[in-house]
Amino acid sequence: MTILFAAPEFDADAWRRRIAAVAGGRAIAVEGSDAYDPAAIRYALVWQPPAGLLAALPNLEAIFNLGAGVDRLMADTTLPDVPIVRVVDPNLTGRMTEWVTLQVLTHQRSALAFLARQKAHEWVEEASPAASAVRVGIMGLGELGRDAVEVLVRLGFQVAGWSRSARTVPGIETHSGAAGLDAFLARTDILVVLLPLTDETRGILNAGLFAKLARDGALGGPVLINAGRGGLQVEADILAALDAGVLKAASLDVFGTEPLPATSPLWERDDVVITPHVAAISDPSALCRGIVAQIEAHERGEELKHVVDRALGY
Ligand SMILES: NC(=O)c1ccc[n+]([C@@H]2O[C@H](COP(=O)([O-])OP(=O)(O)OC[C@H]3O[C@@H](n4cnc5c(N)ncnc54)[C@H](OP(=O)(O)O)[C@@H]3O)[C@@H](O)[C@H]2O)c1
Repeated sequence: MTILFAAPEFDADAWRRRIAAVAGGRAIAVEGSDAYDPAAIRYALVWQPPAGLLAALPNLEAIFNLGAGVDRLMADTTLPDVPIVRVVDPNLTGRMTEWVTLQVLTHQRSALAFLARQKAHEWVEEASPAASAVRVGIMGLGELGRDAVEVLVRLGFQVAGWSRSARTVPGIETHSGAAGLDAFLARTDILVVLLPLTDETRGILNAGLFAKLARDGALGGPVLINAGRGGLQVEADILAALDAGVLKAASLDVFGTEPLPATSPLWERDDVVITPHVAAISDPSALCRGIVAQIEAHERGEELKHVVDRALGY
């Protein structure tokens, strides 16, 4: 029984050591470095593996995606019909909640304006609205969205959430589906996006949606915060909405093309916070421990957790 590691962008030697440290003597093969018998591979730990690779493993029992989002993996039309397990890990969830909270507070407490004034040596005593005066709307009430809700509610924000199916989340108002979207947007000053990228959500952050956000809020205009996936957003529409005042500001961790090209006009803007897809970079050793614990449970006959619904794409 061999575990295959196939993540061309990652440091293979470091990951081999991490997996070996917890794998209990199981054999490990690294795609691209090691010769291995495809029939010996039972489990694959992958991040953007070469298309077709997994289809060539006849005894594969599960694919462990080394990230929470599976959109890139699912783009391989040859994927074998075995469970795809995505990362759900307290370390990753906590890191995302840190990033979301940082961005929400940045906009609520006018941090961009104070930074600009600092550069200009300007002392302007201007109060920011209290959290209780600001309405945050979270698109995506999954593992990440629900954790961010808890912290933002504790800080006093008026929080609402939107998901595909109807959800009840303590302390917040919830909306769902296409029918619930407009009401959710109409009461939202800061839109936090923690959606997966699927056929249904691609390009959802566009001019039409921005125009439906609340215009009567305490911040003087709606703010977009996206840490889901770049494919959710139409970047030309974000730029146009910022220019037209339809959006007041944005914080973006993800982009249609990554790395964000140096020529992107987004870099130049004082009203945009850019981070390089690091919102929830998580502890690799914790991910390895979680995956091996799942392999051990599977070998005891228990069900795998956090298996992707292939029909829904997340
Ligand atoms: N930037 C980063 O560093 C980073 C790191 C990790 C993850 N991410 C991104 O964050 C995403 C969310 O992660 P997660 O673990 O929270 O995922 P999750 O647990 O699968 O939750 C996804 C949420 O999105 C909702 N959703 C999906 N499709 C929808 C649709 N068409 N309309 C409305 N709501 C929809 C789901 O609705 P239901 O509740 O009805 O199922 C669910 O509430 C990942 O897919 C990944 O793309 C980014």
